[in-house]
Amino acid sequence: MTMKAADQITIDPAYDAVAPDDFPSMMEVDRYGQRSTAFDKIISATHDHFWDPLDPKYIDFSEPWDLDNEMLIPEDMNIELRTAVSDKLDEKQKIYLVNESVRWTMSSILHGEQGALNLSASLCHIMKDPGAQEYAANQTREEARHVTGFSRYIQARWGKPAPCGTVLEELLVELVGTPVVWKKLVGMQMVLEGLAMGTFAAFYQKTHDPLLRRLMQLVMTDEAFHHKFGKIWADRTVPNLPPEERDMIEDWALEVFMRLMTNSSGPEQKKHMYEKVGLDWRWVQGALIEAMTDKKMRSEMRSSTSIFRTLIKTLLKAGIITERTAPKYAAYVDIQELYAEGDRMVGDAIAEEGIKYLKEINGAGGDGGIFALGGSSAAE
Ligand SMILES: [Fe+2]
Ligand SMILES: [Fe+2]
Repeated sequence: MTMKAADQITIDPAYDAVAPDDFPSMMEVDRYGQRSTAFDKIISATHDHFWDPLDPKYIDFSEPWDLDNEMLIPEDMNIELRTAVSDKLDEKQKIYLVNESVRWTMSSILHGEQGALNLSASLCHIMKDPGAQEYAANQTREEARHVTGFSRYIQARWGKPAPCGTVLEELLVELVGTPVVWKKLVGMQMVLEGLAMGTFAAFYQKTHDPLLRRLMQLVMTDEAFHHKFGKIWADRTVPNLPPEERDMIEDWALEVFMRLMTNSSGPEQKKHMYEKVGLDWRWVQGALIEAMTDKKMRSEMRSSTSIFRTLIKTLLKAGIITERTAPKYAAYVDIQELYAEGDRMVGDAIAEEGIKYLKEINGAGGDGGIFALGGSSAAE
């Protein structure tokens, strides 16, 4: 596979890349000594936030939930029930719709985690810098435990995930497959991870299910670093770009964002769920569109708890949203307010608290490690 050099935007040598099948370049003897220090801190922090989804010391997936009678999240967190859909359903149907929507969201996240795993692994094949590779390898391992964590949660609550929506699937296939580093980093680390941080924070703050809350916190202790990796790239790259290349990045970020919006709000993809409660997806779509013209609903969506805040703020502060595209994002957040805010994100505090808790668990024990255990327990 050959790659046009023009596709890559390499301002900082830490993001120098080769084609995915160009392993010989990795063995250039001078390359080994050319390691950027940009990622050292986030690499050495990895053990602080270690957790194991299969160890009940960190999270216990046997905690039960009465799916037929208890909503996993508050009713008002479900967008459909804030429209005329609500008047058509009885209590049981509402519980079904809320919980099945959570299943849809968790399944989308699971497929996104799988995309993040494969994407980080692909970064190891194309990024030349040994430090950038080590970071990407660590992220790959963390995404792998997220895949396990979300699989386990979905299994515990519903048995099986919902299939990936076509819009999300196409986007993930494109992000994993492209050999272009900036497309990967902007699409995954900045837009998708940013949206994930906002979504996880909202679920962490609002879910009624203690197991889901725990999962959100553990995943966030890792994701905060992934989003940071995207920010390090942007800080080192965007201010030094010629205008045409900067515009390309801005347009790509908007495209990925809009495609994600289509995925999460496209009622056709959830038609199976609506049919179960006697609703046609086209009617639901009409109800959603009507509600969006409602001023109160719009202003609530733009509130300080908006799941889009983290992502849009990161793009804004990184110079990836300018007046060219700001109006497109303005439907989701108050841009002026964001611009005036500090760099702190809503998810940072949750991640920090989680890391503190993990340090306590990880610091305890001190049994000399796995090889100090008896043969049978080491294999358990
Ligand atoms: Fe993840
Ligand atoms: Fe991630």
